[in-house]
Amino acid sequence: MGVLDGKVILITGAASGIGRATALAAAAAGASVLATDIDEAGGRETAERAGGRFMPQDVTNEARWREVAEAAGPLHGLVNNAGIAIVRPLLETSLEDWRKQQAVNVEGVFLGVKHILPVIRDSGGGSIVNLSSVAGLRGNSVGLSCYSATKGAVCLFTKSAALESARRGWNVRVNSVHPGIIDTPIWDRMAESGPSPFNDPTASTDPVQRASGRVPGGRPGGPENIADGIVFLLSDNASYMTGSELVIDHGMTAGS
Ligand SMILES: NC(=O)c1ccc[n+]([C@@H]2O[C@H](COP(=O)([O-])OP(=O)(O)OC[C@H]3O[C@@H](n4cnc5c(N)ncnc54)[C@H](O)[C@@H]3O)[C@@H](O)[C@H]2O)c1
Repeated sequence: MGVLDGKVILITGAASGIGRATALAAAAAGASVLATDIDEAGGRETAERAGGRFMPQDVTNEARWREVAEAAGPLHGLVNNAGIAIVRPLLETSLEDWRKQQAVNVEGVFLGVKHILPVIRDSGGGSIVNLSSVAGLRGNSVGLSCYSATKGAVCLFTKSAALESARRGWNVRVNSVHPGIIDTPIWDRMAESGPSPFNDPTASTDPVQRASGRVPGGRPGGPENIADGIVFLLSDNASYMTGSELVIDHGMTAGS
């Protein structure tokens, strides 16, 4: 018996990294997975491997959220995982970059909660997991100011949505997950996004290895480490958790 037996879970950004690992872990725990992403080839591959369904979806598009909510059928979980990292020094960040990152990382999460929470409530209740970051818990070094702002917003939006849901008796828990340095394609994408501390052509190591210098023990995590925490929050084993931050960072934020 799996901890997600009988549950239907929608996962955004499921074509890659943490989203794909979560889809596979949720399916292994007994869930029926609905994977969505703007990357159709990757999303379809995830759905196939998880034995689930795929729908193309840009999380910034509200009309598409309505269509996904309509087509999904009963749902018991949502993982608002889709995210981007535009890593630039503050004074070199354009308003367009700021808005693009806010649109995916913050508005995408808001729209997901707004349109899917009622579906979960009307399906008997369940769990929403929003991907924040250790960058959403405290200030961050050069290049991460604007990304950090998006993840801080996700953290407090999550808590407020959790309170509203609990006080209204909707039976939908809402929690945030805060990964540390996790080895996924996001690091290559951020290195490609422009001048930043992560695309130093003179460095002898790749971006994720350099960032791992800040992790006690010096090693990055894998996407499956985050997926395990997400599956726990989606399951009834976490039935008394709402409005919480699940930090999975190998001690990165534990102290100096
Ligand atoms: N990898 C890390 O070290 C790390 C650390 C902390 C938090 N996170 C967060 O975890 C989440 C997953 O990141 P990842 O590392 O797996 O990254 P990733 O780049 O491997 O995957 C992100 C996925 O989101 C999709 N996506 C991007 N924009 C989208 C949009 N507008 N609509 C729908 N899908 C979209 C991409 O196509 C991709 O499949 C993100 O929210 C990220 O900020 C990652």
